Amino acid sequence: MEYLEFAVELAREAGGVLKHYMGREKQVEFKGRANLVTVADKEAEALIIRRIRERYPNHSILAEESGLSGANDSGEGKWIIDPLDGTTNFAHQYPFFCVSIAFEQHGNILCGAVYDPWRDEMFCGASGEGAFVNGVQMRVSETRTLRASLIMTGFPYGFREKIKTVLSQFEAFLIESQAVRRGGSAALDLCYIAVGRVDGFWEMDLHPWDTAAALLILQEAGGRVTDFSGRPFSVYGKEILASNGRIHEEMAGVLGRIR
Ligand code: IPD
Ligand code: CA
Ligand code: CA
Repeated sequence: MEYLEFAVELAREAGGVLKHYMGREKQVEFKGRANLVTVADKEAEALIIRRIRERYPNHSILAEESGLSGANDSGEGKWIIDPLDGTTNFAHQYPFFCVSIAFEQHGNILCGAVYDPWRDEMFCGASGEGAFVNGVQMRVSETRTLRASLIMTGFPYGFREKIKTVLSQFEAFLIESQAVRRGGSAALDLCYIAVGRVDGFWEMDLHPWDTAAALLILQEAGGRVTDFSGRPFSVYGKEILASNGRIHEEMAGVLGRIR
């Protein structure tokens, strides 16, 4: 698919920008108490937007640092971009971050690319065409029980306002699963389910740019993505529960007990 090839090309190019700045980046600005933005976020995003504008001037773009631009009702399509998912990790030189680029048309995500420049891993997928990591087709894990599962989560930037819920969820999963990890890049966390390294993930208050590309990739690898109650997931929604499918009901049960 033309859009997928382009998304992959852009993600790789923007990943080069991140790799260049890794360790040199000293200028960190704060969007909130813990919400950072660096020169790398801005440069990578500017590059992606410039390339899309050149190639598809009628498309709209939703990007984390610059918001929605070029919006129109022509149904031409929308690019959803996180130029650097895992900014806190990046700013501390903790090598777990990525570029995330998705293409949406008529409300459906058609393809996505998530690139980890540190490990040179390109996760990508197109609707109905499967999901791949560096060209090798991906499939979710076969783990059948939560007890045997390695799962991941993230804490929303506004966690201080909902600390009781956040900690109750964390506590419950810590007890019920084999182990819990907090990666710091939601897009990579979801791709790690797609490639079978972990079995499940939950988080509150993510944004479309965190999930759009990885959602499609995970579904194409056989995974399941819903809200906390098992209802259909929207990238514009506030809850995400993702898994290999096999432990999904069990995870939804744990979250259901907490609210
Ligand atoms: C963040 C990461 C993190 C998640 C946060 C996100 P950013 O994105 O995905 O894992 O826990 O909720 O906002 O700010 O690094 O692009
Ligand atoms: Ca993000
Ligand atoms: Ca970001």
